[in-house]
Amino acid sequence: MSDGKPDRVDVTFMYAVHDAFQRDLDRLTAMAAAGDVAGPAVQAGWDRFKRFLHIHHTAEDTHLWPVLRAKAADPAVLDQMEGEHERLDGLLAAVDAAVRAGEATRLAAGAGRLADALTAHCEHEEELALPLVGDLLTQQEWDAFGNEQRRRLGVSGAASFFPWLLDGAGEDTRRKVLGIVPPPVRLLYRAVWRPRYLRAPRWQSPARAH
Ligand SMILES: [Fe+2]
Repeated sequence: MSDGKPDRVDVTFMYAVHDAFQRDLDRLTAMAAAGDVAGPAVQAGWDRFKRFLHIHHTAEDTHLWPVLRAKAADPAVLDQMEGEHERLDGLLAAVDAAVRAGEATRLAAGAGRLADALTAHCEHEEELALPLVGDLLTQQEWDAFGNEQRRRLGVSGAASFFPWLLDGAGEDTRRKVLGIVPPPVRLLYRAVWRPRYLRAPRWQSPARAH
């Protein structure tokens, strides 16, 4: 941008991650509603969802909201983001218990409630917090937030994170994300990580859906 301000940071990843969380909960809700909760796919999918959501929210709590709080004129949006993260924890615990118990009805209800709350939270974040990111954060501060997520993921986490992130993503998102990551990550994703991800148990829409 040439309005005298630095270029805004690229928030492609944030949107892609939010889309992946919502896609996962749509799949879980559909599987639970179909009574399709036995077997390794639900457990593996839930473990992956929980891990990536935890990493994402923890990095926001440590490397995004406090940095914005120090710069924002009004912290109300950041209070809201932190409050919503806390409220999601209770809904996550309910789904966690239902997955472990293998109870389809309880799981469908809990996953639906979690999906509604997470969708609302992601929308609030995109509408209210990302403009603050664009206005207030430096590239270095945004990179520190990304690096914190990478650090928490580690190499083994990245191997399932990228195929998970792009599972069912549109061509535009796929091209943007793969355009941002370093070439070795792109290569590993195509040659090793994605084929391995597709062979392992994972959430898929039940056959009857779409
Ligand atoms: Fe986020």
